[in-house]
Parts: sequence; C-alpha cells; structure tokens
Amino acid sequence: MKVTVVGAGAVGATTADNIARKELCTELVLLDIKEGLAEGKAQDMMQTAALLGFDTKIIGSTNDYSKTAGSNVVVITSGIPRKPGMTREDLIGTNAGIVKGVAENILKYSPDAIIIVISNPMDTMTYLALTATGLPKHRIIGMGGTLDSSRFKYQLSQHLGCSPADLNAVVVGGHGDTTMIPLIRYATWNSAPVTDFLSAEQQQQIVNDTMVGGATLTKLIGTSAWYAPGAAGAALVESIVRDQKKSFTCCVSLEGEYGQTDICLGVPVTIGKNGWEKMLDYQLNADEQAAFNKSADAVRSMNEVLKTL
Ligand code: 2OP
Repeated sequence: MKVTVVGAGAVGATTADNIARKELCTELVLLDIKEGLAEGKAQDMMQTAALLGFDTKIIGSTNDYSKTAGSNVVVITSGIPRKPGMTREDLIGTNAGIVKGVAENILKYSPDAIIIVISNPMDTMTYLALTATGLPKHRIIGMGGTLDSSRFKYQLSQHLGCSPADLNAVVVGGHGDTTMIPLIRYATWNSAPVTDFLSAEQQQQIVNDTMVGGATLTKLIGTSAWYAPGAAGAALVESIVRDQKKSFTCCVSLEGEYGQTDICLGVPVTIGKNGWEKMLDYQLNADEQAAFNKSADAVRSMNEVLKTL
C-alpha cells in the first residue's frame, strides 16, 4: 500500500505523521513545492521510527511527482492556510489553481488513486477536484465534516464531562463558519440522546462553539489548526486502506440526495477500499433541511467563483 500527502505544511506533515505512526502503508510520500521542505520533514519523521517503532518508509520530494507513482490514496493539503480574520473562502483565488494542478499531476502517475481533499475552501476545492479530473465520484472525498464532527464531540464532551469516544455526533453541510450544521438532535452519548442531558442554552453554546471551532484556533495560534485536521485526514486514509467501512461526514458529490445536485457537501458516508461507498440518508426535519439548503446556496455561490478564475 502506498499513500502520498501533497503539501508538507503543518496539516500535511501531521497527516503524514499519523499515517506513519499507524503504519497505514509501507511507503508514504510527502511532496511539497518548497525546495527541501518535504525531504526535511520526511527525514525528521523517519528519525522517530526507532523511537515509535513503525516500519512505514517516508520519502520526501520537492515537486517530483514521479516519486508518487502508484499511490493508492492521495491526500491534498496544498495551498495557503488562513490567517486571523480570514475566512476559509478568502483563500479560493490562490488555492484553486494549486489544487487543480496538484490533482492533474497526481493522476498522471497514480490514475487509480482515491483523493482526499483538505485544502480550503474545502467544499469548493473538492468540487473543483471532481469536475477538473472527471474521476468517478466515489474517489473524491473532502475531509471537512470529519474534522468538524470531531470538534463537535469535543465540545459535547466538555459539557457532559464524558469521553469524546463515547459520543456519536455529526456535523453536516459546508465546512465554513456559517455553513456547517452540527446535528445535535441526532447526537448520542452511549446511545442516549445528548439533548436529554443538556439545557437549551448549553445546546446552543455547543453548536455555536463547534461552528467557529477552526476560527477560534486560528485566532489563538495565528494560523490555521493542524493536529485535528491531520488526525482527521489520517482517519479517512485508515478506513480506506483497512477497508473499515467506518462512517464519517465527508464532502462528496450529491446527485439529488439531501435535495441537492451539482455540488459537493458534507453528508454521512461509509469509507472503505473504494473510497466513499454508502451514503446514510438522515431524515432531516424542516429546520435542518432549510439549514442544509442555505449551506448549499452559500457553497454553490463559492463554486461559481471558480468560473471567474
Ligand atoms: C480547520 O478548520 C484547517 O479548515 C481547517 O482548522
């Protein structure tokens, strides 16, 4: 099994680090456009192998895509991250060209790869990867909802005083501060609805804090977060390479499901050796569906910007 991570910035490197620690592949390529960055980080990670006890071989490459040949899974993290005060959408002009070029280069050497998109604005970059490559829809997976759902579980665990691992909770819709929809009505703590244990105010607070989870960290750190984004990317790689068929919220192509077409948006899907495999059809109530439609409108108008670039 071979995996490539494109972009050796904080998110890409953390994704690669998690993949290596879990030995999700025998060969892992880390590629970046910046001279020496990927080689340096790959070597640094390889120097943890003796300490951590993994056998995955990590190879760094400065923009030499021939090294990525034959990858089963490719994670795209390239592009600029947001700075405090920026939305994910502010990045579109710069990141669209980068992501399109990366996807094309990757497919030259790994025509059968499953592609995971992390670059922002993630919903639009996933749509771009799908439309620019013409790949079958099951092979293009946007990571955003996986991260947002983990952040949702964190917020819930803080209020419930419980382990995030005992929670089931999903965020659907877009990966934007105003477009994501934490589905608190569906969230459970060991199968019991979390709404049984939380006041209306607490529920609203949790939803609000989840939605601005990324922005809160950007303000604190001065740039966009990487530990949880990297862990989320690696969790998707794991479900693919081990064919776990775990369910995650991922940004995928909708063709009428959830009332939307010609768009990639976050919905619950299973992830296995074929990419995203099954979509779970949640019965959204009227308010949730209205929020989903509003989210789709916002993402669709962002996708329109692609035509002007
Ligand atoms: C975040 O929400 C990187 O978009 C990512 O932190």
